[in-house]
Amino acid sequence: MTASIDVSRPLPGAHFGATLRLSKPLSEAMPEGLPQQLADAGGLLLIPNLDEITANPRLLVEMSYLLGPEVEDYRTLLTRVAMAHETVPEIFMVTNMVPGARPPPRRPDPPLTADGKLPVQYPHRVGWHTDQSYRRPPPDISLFYAVTPVARERGQTIFASGHLAYDALPAHLKAKVEQLEGLHAQPGTGRSRSDVTTGKTPPAVLSHQRSQKQPVVRTHPVTGRKALYLCEAGQMDWFDGPFVGMQPGPHGDGAKLLDELMTHYTRPEFIYVHEWMQGDLLIWDNRCLVHAATWYDADKEQRMMWRTTVRGNPGAIYAGEKRSWIPAEAAE
Ligand SMILES: [Fe+2]
Repeated sequence: MTASIDVSRPLPGAHFGATLRLSKPLSEAMPEGLPQQLADAGGLLLIPNLDEITANPRLLVEMSYLLGPEVEDYRTLLTRVAMAHETVPEIFMVTNMVPGARPPPRRPDPPLTADGKLPVQYPHRVGWHTDQSYRRPPPDISLFYAVTPVARERGQTIFASGHLAYDALPAHLKAKVEQLEGLHAQPGTGRSRSDVTTGKTPPAVLSHQRSQKQPVVRTHPVTGRKALYLCEAGQMDWFDGPFVGMQPGPHGDGAKLLDELMTHYTRPEFIYVHEWMQGDLLIWDNRCLVHAATWYDADKEQRMMWRTTVRGNPGAIYAGEKRSWIPAEAAE
């Protein structure tokens, strides 16, 4: 039995994205045509009122398989095991409710823009990234489900459309980035902007932890549309990058270009801000969007979000590649 889907586009206050409302519970019928809906919406779907996932987390994994051939198992992703769901290891918990969990990002300074709005544009807002871009091939799609969100006006997830940003790039910048590659660094490997600004040489890492080159302009494997594919302070390599073949380091020509591109990428007209409600599911396409998390008061509030990651269709440029993040000894 199939469920009908009511679609409204775009997402409120944005120029991309769509809201899907399902006519039946997931346990009765899985929605059909999600990959096409995602493509038509420019890479971002909101499906509200899926509270049944909280009691039946396998439904989230089942939905994830509608979007691609492979759903990551977080026990084998070399991530901290405590952050994987106890019985459903495809679920990564983004939370402050597990001891040792990563704290939420700091509040921007100042906390609001001059006209009283949530800061979204880089560099007032930092933390913009696309998931796991420090791996080759990178993942396709993330699903993010709100078990327990925090109160409105904090703990939001903010998105910027790489398609809209690319389309609006001035011609001279389009020409400059067309063949350019970014160098994406795994957080924690000592190569973030703040790590390198202190003047320290990053520690040696094993080959599977090395920074990875990625095209700055990515062609979407489903739609054929071009999108900017970039991160900023925490997920680019500021020692050898951020760009291959440009002056490296936090004060070089590469840094100046990255700042210019990220400021453009996160212009308010390319943004959607999601205020979470319990039971919301967001599905985003990492191949054509960047996102950032916002602050909440982790001492006073408890947040539990579940994420799955889908991979398997990164595009022709990655065809036949070995996974960069698998240690040589584990791959044998
Ligand atoms: Fe993320």
